[in-house]
Amino acid sequence: MSVSTTKAQLARRWFATLATTAVLGATLAAVPAASAVDQAAPVLKTEAPEVGCEVTAGTLSWGLMERFRGYIDGFAKGAFTPSADVSFSGTEWTWSTPTGSVDPATGTGQVAFPGSVLATGHGDVLKMNFANPVVEFVSSTEANLKFDIDSNDTTGAPTISEKAITIGTFALTPGLSGEAGSTVTMIGTGGLSEAAVPAFADFYQAGEPFDPMTLSLTLGECAGAATASAEPTDDAATTPEPEMTTLIAPEDENEGSNLMRLWVVLGVVVVAGVATVIVVRQRRARKSPEQEHSELPESGDQTS
Ligand code: HEM
Repeated sequence: MSVSTTKAQLARRWFATLATTAVLGATLAAVPAASAVDQAAPVLKTEAPEVGCEVTAGTLSWGLMERFRGYIDGFAKGAFTPSADVSFSGTEWTWSTPTGSVDPATGTGQVAFPGSVLATGHGDVLKMNFANPVVEFVSSTEANLKFDIDSNDTTGAPTISEKAITIGTFALTPGLSGEAGSTVTMIGTGGLSEAAVPAFADFYQAGEPFDPMTLSLTLGECAGAATASAEPTDDAATTPEPEMTTLIAPEDENEGSNLMRLWVVLGVVVVAGVATVIVVRQRRARKSPEQEHSELPESGDQTS
């Protein structure tokens, strides 16, 4: 093998090696860069916050219906008899010692009060007991008022005996709000539900207006980030936002390594370019007859 042939072959091999190195280098540099782009997407760690506040104290004050009280005390010659844990002011009964929890942020939850009121009349043919009220929030500004109700018709036969029946749905002003340690007081207005019509021996139609009720709740421990909100339509105020600290922005962490990869790619491109120039020059030189001849393989190389 001649010296000139060896040089040409070496040049080609060198170029091939450089070209391979360039392709490999560019590929290796590009692959981690691509995964770095994937990693650059913010990682959202969602933790569903628990919400709701324990109700530690409060009262429910309600007189049912002024006209019904008048009927019992008057025409029916009857009386109202509250249980020991229910007080009477002359116009309304007050239940206390509530249990339950509410979430001011979402307008949900329910509160139960122990105690009963028995209405009697017409020599006990009329015997209506309404007990253990439960306020069930439908939203921050609306709640169902439920009672365990037992009652008779005008013959004295039982017409209704149900637990936790909704006697009416009340609109609440100003609405459920507050935070741990605060007391919220709401006025509720509403009317008789269809389901509770038999409790009054069908003398009232559904929608018959009740006296307003007053609901006062003292909030204790609130789980999670429950905050005050009396505006149920304000989604921005009621929707829990993920904490900013849970958003990880990996761009900063990968910025340095991405820059390094860019320099590696640029270096490989430059080296490949230089190699290309060298090989092109060699090919041009090979075109001279003298060089052409010198590159021909010697006969000894082919036959040996
Ligand atoms: C001996 C059985 C009864 C008799 C004779 C009787 C009679 C009457 C009468 C005459 C009225 C009309 C009073 C008025 O318009 O001023 C009335 C009203 C009424 N009764 Fe009775 N009743 C009886 C039993 C009952 C029972 C078991 C209930 C169940 C709760 C009941 C609930 C009512 C109610 C809600 C009214 C309407 C009161 C109002 O004007 O707001 N009654 N009853």
